[in-house]
Amino acid sequence: MFGKFITIEGGEGVGKSTNIAFIQSQLESKGIQCLITREPGGTPLAEEIREILIKNRDEIVVSETELLLMFAARAQHLHQKIMPALSEGKWVISDRFTDATYAYQSGGRGVSASNVGLLENFVQGDLRPDLTLLLDAPPEVGMARARGRGQLDRFEEEKSAFFDRVRRNYLSRAAAEPKRFKVVDATQILSAVQRDIAELLRELQAS
Ligand code: TMP
Repeated sequence: MFGKFITIEGGEGVGKSTNIAFIQSQLESKGIQCLITREPGGTPLAEEIREILIKNRDEIVVSETELLLMFAARAQHLHQKIMPALSEGKWVISDRFTDATYAYQSGGRGVSASNVGLLENFVQGDLRPDLTLLLDAPPEVGMARARGRGQLDRFEEEKSAFFDRVRRNYLSRAAAEPKRFKVVDATQILSAVQRDIAELLRELQAS
């Protein structure tokens, strides 16, 4: 028995949490057991690494340090939480995964994609998501929402050019892997976003 692994990606404030709750309710209504989790984080140790990563600080955080911390959290999360759940037949829905590392650390910070790929293979072996939903919106839209939530974290403090690079990286990765990586227009009204998501879930269940 092996569950499906779904990851949700997108820039800041694109509505990931609302739509993850929707995905959970859709799947559970069909009798599918789900595990909802997030990155960086998902286990106590990985959540501590998350705090280190998002905290605003005076010291410059070197891109390679950031990259390695992302994968340190991911290794813990994968072995302690994601893989055990999948092998029990649960469907795992993760708020972000390795595509975020390509988008933010490679697209945003400029680390080479091949170095991200090396760590991806090292930490994950051949485990990849079955479906990745990219909730796509122009960074201005999402950042307005993120600002409304209060104090900005170290990533949210970045300039709009950074978020433009993140978005472009996500979109080009989605275009390169259209079978796994589906783009949902997150600027639509919520009911239209959720209609699109429900259709993609039906396709995944049928596959
Ligand atoms: P959040 O959107 O869940 O709050 O994620 C926290 C931040 O971490 C977000 O700004 C994106 C960033 N991030 C990366 O830079 N690389 C990664 O691999 C992941 C998982 C998140």
